[in-house]
Amino acid sequence: MRGIILAGGTGSRLRPLTSGISKQLMPVYDKPMIYYPLSTLILAGVQDVLIITTPRDRPTFEHVLGDGSQFGIRLSYCAQPSPDGLAQALVLGETFLAGRPSAVVLGDNLLHGPGLGTSMHSYETASGATIFGCWVRDPTPYGVVEVSADGRALSIEEKPLQPRSHLAVPGLYFYDGTASERARSLSPSSRGELEITDLHRSYMTDDALRVQVMPRGTVWLDTGTVGDLAAAGEFVRTVQQRQGLAVGAPEEAAWRVGLLDDGELASRAERLTGSEYGRYLRDLVDQETSTHRAGA
Ligand code: DAU
Repeated sequence: MRGIILAGGTGSRLRPLTSGISKQLMPVYDKPMIYYPLSTLILAGVQDVLIITTPRDRPTFEHVLGDGSQFGIRLSYCAQPSPDGLAQALVLGETFLAGRPSAVVLGDNLLHGPGLGTSMHSYETASGATIFGCWVRDPTPYGVVEVSADGRALSIEEKPLQPRSHLAVPGLYFYDGTASERARSLSPSSRGELEITDLHRSYMTDDALRVQVMPRGTVWLDTGTVGDLAAAGEFVRTVQQRQGLAVGAPEEAAWRVGLLDDGELASRAERLTGSEYGRYLRDLVDQETSTHRAGA
């Protein structure tokens, strides 16, 4: 399974913060925003990731994340000429995917909780597409899915004024090898974008869309507005201080799934000495061999 992170877009809702820097490189407490979706992909078992950026920000992403070896994976980059919609990622990534199954994440989404660790490996072999439903008070800014009692998608709509359910669709999607072909046949919506929801509707029409409703303890935060960004930072700070376990550390994720061994993790930590993040990575090995492992 290969991964794609969508880290383009205009970041218009975060201006003037985003006038010079990409939204997905903004700090969410102690890490750049993209570390969170990147960790999600690594835990899902992905080792090859394509990062979609704006043409302006591509060099900065390359500078921050490099070729991926610091995380035990391979990273490549693609500049999206203009923000023509999320489903365009599957078209831009067609050669990269070469008909393989994929996991696609949005660069401004943070997911944390049960079922979002190594158990995601199973989606690699699933046919069709798997999306998630997460209960939110106000689903109108999101894709909204309606699910039958036996877990089938009954309807899916993008930003409905009158939503049919409280289940918003977070930015983590698993597709079989047909996603690029399906995305290529989509037409732009009234707002001029290739909508991810239309891609999901294509799977639904073929009875190939599975919806997993996330357990109530799952935390899904979207960092699209200034208020959401501050709330996400506060969440990460609270959990990390209470547990002493990081949220969204890609080096840790890689170590837990076996992509970095103890020595490799220690050398990554060495490069970050001086920061709390570096000290956390350095202490992980000792801490976890002396107590119970905290799990992925
Ligand atoms: O956050 C979850 C929601 O994300 C889903 O529920 C919706 O179905 C989905 O359409 C999307 O809605 P948003 O309005 O939040 O999408 P946004 O335009 O904010 O873009 C999400 C991410 O993708 C963000 O990191 C920017 C990036 N992006 C966006 C577009 C339109 C790209 O990389 N390229 C693009 O063309």
